[in-house]
Amino acid sequence: MSATMEKMTSKDYMNVEEEHGAHNYHPLGVVLKRGEGVHVWDVEGKQYYDFLSAYSAVNQGHCHPKIVGAMIDQAKRLTLTSRAFYNDSLGPYEKFVTEYFGFDKVLPMNTGAEAVETAIKLCRKWAYEKNGIAEDQAQIIVCEGNFHGRTTTIVSFSDDPVARKNFGPFTPGFIRIPYDDLDALEKALQQKNVAGFLVEPIQGEAGVYVPSEGYLTKAKELCTANGTLFIADEVQTGIARTGKLLAVDHENVKPDILILGKAISGGVYPVSAVFADNEIMNVIKPGQHGSTFGGNPVAAKVAIAALEVVTDEKLAENAQTLGELFRKEMNRIIKTSDLVLKVRGKGLLNAIIVNDTEDSSTAWDLCVALMNNGLLAKPTHGNIIRFAPPLVMTREELMECVAIIEKTIKEFKK
Ligand SMILES: Cc1ncc(COP(=O)(O)O)c(C=O)c1O
Repeated sequence: MSATMEKMTSKDYMNVEEEHGAHNYHPLGVVLKRGEGVHVWDVEGKQYYDFLSAYSAVNQGHCHPKIVGAMIDQAKRLTLTSRAFYNDSLGPYEKFVTEYFGFDKVLPMNTGAEAVETAIKLCRKWAYEKNGIAEDQAQIIVCEGNFHGRTTTIVSFSDDPVARKNFGPFTPGFIRIPYDDLDALEKALQQKNVAGFLVEPIQGEAGVYVPSEGYLTKAKELCTANGTLFIADEVQTGIARTGKLLAVDHENVKPDILILGKAISGGVYPVSAVFADNEIMNVIKPGQHGSTFGGNPVAAKVAIAALEVVTDEKLAENAQTLGELFRKEMNRIIKTSDLVLKVRGKGLLNAIIVNDTEDSSTAWDLCVALMNNGLLAKPTHGNIIRFAPPLVMTREELMECVAIIEKTIKEFKK
């Protein structure tokens, strides 16, 4: 097997996936073999700038030596105990991470969707046991255009037909309102049995929609006044991506429940986490929730290393500075082109809006052209291309990427 695998070309790898893997993704036509920092290389040895960072999981850059080192050290000693026993990694991690984010307690899971599910369960249980809502009646407010993952409950409150079609019956208990609409929130909060408001501080997957300034502050105030939990899903926006450690930090908002995933491990290992203070988290008792792998020793060590890198390398500050430069440069390019209509974002979570055809083929073709010129990005929802490079990027590298984007846009023919 390995002898034939060594001779395989990109096309061979794509074919083998096509034949043996479920078709639940539509990847760009590049087969990657190696990554380091802001770069990745394909099986033919071509180098690219990664401008997606595994949907903002690889904020610390590919194969960061400190994070990979922590994983290897721990993997040689103890990988998994389950939570049937204590281990000497989980407690220190829990102490570290709760101090890092400023909450009493953490509940460790593995993927973003699992963490969102955890937050939903936590919110409901709190509502019944602490907030006087009758059992099975709790409602959670969510937003139009939301993306919180792919489980049955989560797609139950999605409004994306592709994510939902033929996956019903769906889980009840959700009220959907327009994003960035405080009046709608105020009205929804007046409905009966509202336990929580689940929101992305910036809607990443939907196309990097940044809400109006003050939205999060006011939304939190409205929730607090109503005795409703403000639940921030920072799986994509968290860990320095938007120029602050958390996107809610731009407005100094502390969520009642915080959901993190992706870059909490630097993309090295699946790690997610739900944070809350005691009054909320203590409603969960033994046997009521868990995961065999959640909080395992490798995850614990990897996450500590990944978060230390964020602090040591000042990634939030870098994202803030480079993000401003990037949008300035994109706005300059947009003035000279009718192919791109707009750039928007915060920190290094940005998107350009392509002047596209009905079928959004221009955005896809533009990503193919960018790939050919050495930069990897992917459309998210039609005519929107998300740009989210690793946060370890230097100014010089960013300007090189800007030059690639500019050249690609100039040479692009619809
Ligand atoms: C805001 C948000 N929540 C949850 C998720 C789901 O995370 P995962 O793919 O790790 O399940 C994502 C993934 O993109 C996300 O962007």
